[in-house]
Amino acid sequence: MSGTAAVEDLPWWKRAVIYEVYLRSFKDSTGDGIGDLQGVIEKLDYLNEGTALSLGQAEHREINPSPSLRIDAIWITPFYPSPMADFGYDVMDFISVDSLFGDLPTFDRLLHEAHRRGIKVIIDFVPNHTSDRHPWFIESRRSRDDPKRDWYIWRDAGTDGSLPNNWGSPFGGPVWTWDEATGQYYLHQFLKEQPELNWRNPELRQAMMDVLRFWLDRGVDGIRMDVIGMIVKDAQFRDNPPNLEADPDLHPDDIFGRQVHLYNEDQDDVHKILQDMRALLEEYDDRCALGELGYPLDRWVRYYGEDGDGLHLPLNFRLMERPWTAQAIRQLVEEIEAILPSFAWPTYVLGSHDAPRMASRLGGDQVRIAAMLLLTLRGTPILYQGDELGMENARIPSERIRDPQGLRLGHERSRDISRMPMLWDGSAHSGFSSSEPWLPVSADYATKNVAAQATDPGSNMNLYRRLIRYRSSSPAMLDGSYRSVDTGSKDCFVYLRQLGQERCLVALNFTSHSRALSTALGGNGSVEISTYLDRSEATSLERIDLRPHEGLIIEMDP
Ligand code: NOJ
Repeated sequence: MSGTAAVEDLPWWKRAVIYEVYLRSFKDSTGDGIGDLQGVIEKLDYLNEGTALSLGQAEHREINPSPSLRIDAIWITPFYPSPMADFGYDVMDFISVDSLFGDLPTFDRLLHEAHRRGIKVIIDFVPNHTSDRHPWFIESRRSRDDPKRDWYIWRDAGTDGSLPNNWGSPFGGPVWTWDEATGQYYLHQFLKEQPELNWRNPELRQAMMDVLRFWLDRGVDGIRMDVIGMIVKDAQFRDNPPNLEADPDLHPDDIFGRQVHLYNEDQDDVHKILQDMRALLEEYDDRCALGELGYPLDRWVRYYGEDGDGLHLPLNFRLMERPWTAQAIRQLVEEIEAILPSFAWPTYVLGSHDAPRMASRLGGDQVRIAAMLLLTLRGTPILYQGDELGMENARIPSERIRDPQGLRLGHERSRDISRMPMLWDGSAHSGFSSSEPWLPVSADYATKNVAAQATDPGSNMNLYRRLIRYRSSSPAMLDGSYRSVDTGSKDCFVYLRQLGQERCLVALNFTSHSRALSTALGGNGSVEISTYLDRSEATSLERIDLRPHEGLIIEMDP
């Protein structure tokens, strides 16, 4: 079987470049300043206009004149009815659409239009909590005897009125709120407006499985499971131990940051539930489960399931957490490659609506190295909207901060900095909306936008387009092995992706100095892509010259 044929047999989620659409900030079609589903439909051609050539065709590697990125799948953040205390992660109805974002027929149209272009659609599923205005919670808090009481987590106060345990919320403060009417505390690891569901209750579990079935029946291709490792808590609700390495300058309300999260998340019992969810997905063709979770590598890897019967893609945020040096990133990739069982497929994430922008974190010059890394490592990359433009953290005036985390734990903790509107063009509000957006548009929108970058052959966006096209046309990139290559330079990370006869070398210079690398690979190759987008030429593999902050993809001669 040729490499290409084998690659075509890969499930879509192994071949895909996934793109996170942060719905509120992607495109507003109604003029209310908030992004919506119709807005996503209007911008689908930017994501993939649907004329991708079949694998292996040489033309595929050329830059296409259309500005389409050619991503393969979108993950859309929550669009369900919500009071928006946590901007949609506080759901009032799991099987409907908030009128702010559209309605179910619009969602169906989005699905249809995306599929017509070859774009898979992944939705956000928020299993850990609901809004306190969800009818289930309203019933649950009605009385201690209510049939839905046990769908949430209720506990008595200590004899002295104290909280049931010491757990803290990542949004600040304790995780327990007193309910005067029924005289018990309820658990919420996020806001008090986000009470936690009790996954140990079989009826609740069934109701949530029915929610999944609702969307799978509608035709969604994948489910991104929000904070999936938190849905099961210690059966005895024991106190978390203190984190002795916590930053002493943490905000006084940051109880969460001062604890080791031993009992509030990542409990063994979660894996049985994931198996059940996976079994449900397996009843359908070709669906995929992604999960948001952290944890040390040996705990994280368990989320693939013991025999691959857990999540298809447990998200991996470690590229955002390690120091940005060639050595640290190489070591991280080796650790991941070493720990993954043969059935487990890697994932890599470099940005999201919860983290500072990668361009601000890494510095403008390294953004292109990061793009090449993300799109050439073995595994499925997940991009965050606007990172292809090199968008940076927004400076948001205090009075416009909206994120509850920033409002409660200090403005420097606000996630709004990476949630500002997508930059479409140089017109007012950057073409995002016809009126003032819910968060301000970045100050540099006049130059750093899709329209401007489409006409600049050397732009960041064109680098992404080029890398995505290259990746989808290269069996070695899609399904090849990974091994790092020694070069004698600690400033560069060099690795080989190989499938059959096809060998691609990726060489990344993490510094602002030129570097001449020597490899023991021998022979010659051709530079296919430079992060500067200005050269394609033959090169010897005995000596590879990299300019400051330059990355290269080199195809090795057979
Ligand atoms: C993770 C989501 O990505 C984040 O935005 C949200 O605040 C928390 N889960 C709580 O749902």
